[in-house]
Amino acid sequence: MRVLGIETSCDETAASVVALDGDSAPEILSNVVLSQIEEHAAFGGVVPEIAARAHVEALDGIVEAALTDSAVSLDEVDAVAATAGPGLVGGLIVGLMTAKAIAAAANKPLIAINHLEGHALTARLTEGLDFPYLLLLVSGGHTQIVAVRGVGDYQRWATTIDDALGEAFDKTAKMLGLPYPGGPNVEKAAAGGDASRFAFPRPMKGSAQPDFSFSGLKTAVRQAATAIAPLSDQDVADICASFQAAVADALGDRVARALARFRKEFPETAKPALVVAGGVAANRTIKATLEARCSKAGFAFVAPPQKLCTDNAAMIAWAGIERLRAGMVDASAADFVPRSRWPLDSVSAPLVGSGRRGAKA
Ligand code: KG4
Ligand code: ZN
Repeated sequence: MRVLGIETSCDETAASVVALDGDSAPEILSNVVLSQIEEHAAFGGVVPEIAARAHVEALDGIVEAALTDSAVSLDEVDAVAATAGPGLVGGLIVGLMTAKAIAAAANKPLIAINHLEGHALTARLTEGLDFPYLLLLVSGGHTQIVAVRGVGDYQRWATTIDDALGEAFDKTAKMLGLPYPGGPNVEKAAAGGDASRFAFPRPMKGSAQPDFSFSGLKTAVRQAATAIAPLSDQDVADICASFQAAVADALGDRVARALARFRKEFPETAKPALVVAGGVAANRTIKATLEARCSKAGFAFVAPPQKLCTDNAAMIAWAGIERLRAGMVDASAADFVPRSRWPLDSVSAPLVGSGRRGAKA
């Protein structure tokens, strides 16, 4: 089985070919990702119009590169899978329409993939993980805990009631004059800071439902920064370290709740696992906190390679393979309309928070 995957839901233009032969481990034959960070850096965040235009300009070449790298011709692929939501609608239209055109021209089935499903199933591509397991997705657009029970069988146990975690890192960086994207720069500054200097709030800590909130923390950072302005480099480092410690602490608490719930709901799972995905999972302080929580609760901690944790098309191609082999593909995908909002599970009602919800909430 060979599937061509296309991803254009945010600010990465990506294409990939993934293969699965019999019972052997799946293989990523190509994985081409073009980041638009430079196009958006001057604006301190992703500008949807710029993103859509950049996808239009780049996508054909990226698909061609993915096919060339994989040494697989379009004739040899079994299906074309593309992210159809959730995300920025301009980019989704570019990716899905391109995939529809390729699939129609090559007479192959089209598979419309939920971007979150791509993240959710990545650990099966990289580690061959069995269902069920728990997923923590922390990126610029999402902050969710999902029970992954099977292909197409997901239950969202927690989400953010306001900002996504990556968004909180990016906004904190902006307030402190650090460049975009904020996460890596906050982490770098924090390395030389005193995490105990500012007692920032631990949002939602102790609440029974493992949901997240980050807008109050962001306000606390702004107030602390305003109170001691102008900021020295040491002040910035101390604020970053204190912010990161608050985030790690709050996240650890939320995840511990979810681990306990998993134990209760899936008592027959001998070796339960927590999988992390999303750009924020690169943060070493956060990773260490999660690892510690997992080992305390007897969970395996699974962090796929970083380039498969952040947005890429290999995860979309793989989700296509999972759907194809489960017989979950039909002709209706040719009529699929991109969805800017598309929850992974249709059961959990969307949460309405006090702040702005991320584009991909
Ligand atoms: O998954 P991703 O590459 O893209 C999407 O959001 O879809 O995640 C990007 C987010 C950004 O908000 C970025 O600031 C954050 O991940 N990030 C980090 C780190 N590296 C990236 N946040 C904290 N620490 C990091 N080392
Ligand atoms: Zn993503």
